[in-house]
Amino acid sequence: MISPVAASLATLRAHGVDGPLDAAIVLGTGLSDLAESLSEAVTISYADLPGFPRPGVSGHAGRLVVGRSHGRRIAFLQGRAHYYESGDPRVMAGALECLSALGCGALVLTAASGSLRADLPPGGLMLITDHINWSGLNPLIGVSTDDRFVSMVDAYDPALRASFQAAAARAGIALPEGVYMWFSGPSFETPAEIRMAGLMGADAVGMSVAPEVILARRLGLRLGAVTLITNYGAGYQGGAPTHDQTKSIAAVGAQSLARLLDSFIAGLETP
Ligand code: HPA
Repeated sequence: MISPVAASLATLRAHGVDGPLDAAIVLGTGLSDLAESLSEAVTISYADLPGFPRPGVSGHAGRLVVGRSHGRRIAFLQGRAHYYESGDPRVMAGALECLSALGCGALVLTAASGSLRADLPPGGLMLITDHINWSGLNPLIGVSTDDRFVSMVDAYDPALRASFQAAAARAGIALPEGVYMWFSGPSFETPAEIRMAGLMGADAVGMSVAPEVILARRLGLRLGAVTLITNYGAGYQGGAPTHDQTKSIAAVGAQSLARLLDSFIAGLETP
């Protein structure tokens, strides 16, 4: 039987999409419009790509858009699936395996998050340097081969981080750096959990990114991740996050994220 990855690659080829890509960019909650910047764009629904998720959260489109920007071949993933939708931490594995099989110079993850630092106010961006996965979950649990023992040192690729800082400087965008802590959701954190996260060294909290990073590192994908701060964490600076607030601030902050990504793409080295 043909594997989901092989079936997805065949569908992509039937749409005239072949690898390698210079970058694939996963767009988080409220950020799907960023894909409109591509020229010669080909759009394929996740429903036609075996192994890709079926996003169920409002604000997530569920489409792969492949095209060109600044002469680079770019794929945008409009929407991701989260652990909290199904209880499956491997829910993004098929999509990432397809990108890896296609060839992908850089994977960029974007996501909304709550801030634990006064100098990271809502509406701003943070470049993720590392993460804390205190969930007890791991997408590689159950994998039986030795490549499950993935190193997580420099998982957020130092060279790509430098590229993002250069891109931010060119675009005149502040890009503070920090550590992201994964919570499963879908409930937001309690104020006590947010205080704990701060004590443990987290600068922002969110409901995605970390399992995707673990899966991507196993595949050897080089990755960078930028989070859009949509709120202060529960109880911090009066923070009382809601999903509506996440979506409305994401829509505002999406403009600076769009400029950052545009500058990053323009600066990508092509092989
Ligand atoms: N917590 C978890 N996930 C989030 C938050 C938050 O405060 N804001 C946006 N995504």
